[in-house]
Amino acid sequence: MLPAPLPISLVPADWAGEVLRLLVFILPAYVANASPVLLGGHFPIDGGRRAWDGRAWLGPSKTWLGLLSGLAAGFLCSVLMAHLLPGTPLDLWGGARAPYLSAGLALCAGTMAGDLLGSLIKRRLGSPSGSPSFMLDQLTFLLVALAAVVPLGPSADFVFRPFAIVFLVGFTYLVHRAANAFAHAWGLKRVPW
Ligand code: CTP
Ligand code: MG
Repeated sequence: MLPAPLPISLVPADWAGEVLRLLVFILPAYVANASPVLLGGHFPIDGGRRAWDGRAWLGPSKTWLGLLSGLAAGFLCSVLMAHLLPGTPLDLWGGARAPYLSAGLALCAGTMAGDLLGSLIKRRLGSPSGSPSFMLDQLTFLLVALAAVVPLGPSADFVFRPFAIVFLVGFTYLVHRAANAFAHAWGLKRVPW
């Protein structure tokens, strides 16, 4: 006798379409995360102050200019998406423009907050600014960005399925590593991670 088919397939039948949809969805977060490398680098958020453990709160890599440029560039990306995508095959929100802006705002705020959280944790663990930290460097921004999208409700459910989460975590890890290696090779970043 043949085994009964699984009730829910973990890999969607149209997995390529799903991957494309997830890439479009996460784009503002990637833009927000990448922009500080190009546009930041001035006015440290912690002002050089030290925490109770004698180490920097965040370190000199986390600056106001980077934070604001990440928020601005990521949100600009969402505004462009809201203008360009409704009515196209890449549309995420059934023709509406506003969800691009609310999702974009949540993703960018979450990305930048997650980036700061990653540095805060690294400093508490004793890792100096710019030192590599497996997972914290690549994934805290993504996880906080995704958490920030939860309040959008059922319309964003496609992001919270096992396939989507596994894809976003794996893809983000690889893209982040590759992008940082390129940024280092082109002289944009001090370290290749
Ligand atoms: N950057 C910034 N402001 C931010 C985030 C990043 O100005 N809020 C800029 C800084 O010039 C930083 C570069 O982007 O050096 C790369 O950021 P990141 O890799 O997050 O910093 P690290 O040097 O790795 O520092 P940390 O150890 O705290 O992650
Ligand atoms: Mg880093």
